[in-house]
Amino acid sequence: MRAQTTSMPRAVPAASLMPFVIVDDVFKVYREGDVETVALRGASMTVQRGEFVVIVGRSGSGKSTLLNIIGGLADTTAGRVTVAGFDLARSDEELRAMVRSKHIGMVFQADNLVPFLTAEENVALPMQLAGRADAGRRARHLLDELGVGARHGHRPEQLSGGEKQRVAIATAIANEPELLLGDELTGELDTMNTDAVLDALAALNARGMTLVIVTHNMRVARRATRILHIKDGLIEESEAAHGDKS
Ligand SMILES: Nc1ncnc2c1ncn2[C@@H]1O[C@H](COP(=O)(O)OP(=O)(O)OP(=O)(O)O)[C@@H](O)[C@H]1O
Ligand SMILES: [Mg+2]
Repeated sequence: MRAQTTSMPRAVPAASLMPFVIVDDVFKVYREGDVETVALRGASMTVQRGEFVVIVGRSGSGKSTLLNIIGGLADTTAGRVTVAGFDLARSDEELRAMVRSKHIGMVFQADNLVPFLTAEENVALPMQLAGRADAGRRARHLLDELGVGARHGHRPEQLSGGEKQRVAIATAIANEPELLLGDELTGELDTMNTDAVLDALAALNARGMTLVIVTHNMRVARRATRILHIKDGLIEESEAAHGDKS
């Protein structure tokens, strides 16, 4: 089912002129009993439409927390997050779910494929949920584009790590999100599979999709147009990058 436009809260005015993603002085504190972990302590960043931004930083520096917040999957403790003109930090779950389904695709560390569905069925699923009539055909097309078309009938356990990752990307982009968030997309992959995934990402970016990818891998970072360094929950440095084609 497509999100209904009638009951949808309005985006803030002049949304198209604003950066596509605005993270403004965001704090995130995890509380478990008496233990508090400050995962983000005043993180700020913006992403313009069409950018390919890579976020790098040590383990535990807050990268996944930041992506989850941009994706509307987690609350902020303080601060403001705007995506596609919608103020996510101050929105209810209904609005966040709408922004996610209409504007954002996500590929996160946890494998998000349904184990008992084939690759093609996995990719088709979000399109069926959105009411697209061409879900099956488009799923095959996306798998072809990502170089895993021959594997369309395989379940996740019958796929290699690199193939699974590409199926997960196909699933995330199925509904043509404007923004793709990726957490260690190429984490376990060898160089060849990493390059195949990166080629697919570069092609999406060339067609206008905005990319925000967390990685430890310098092969990935080299493809970005900008690299953000995060340390202890703070974005310390924004570095223009080359956006290498290979
Ligand atoms: N649900 C949670 N409850 C409590 N603490 C958490 C939770 N999620 C993350 N943390 C803590 O918040 C900090 C930031 O975690 P986060 O997962 O954002 O790091 P990361 O940069 O993604 O690390 P990695 O590179 O290892 O994936 C860490 O100290 C982590 O232990
Ligand atoms: Mg992480």
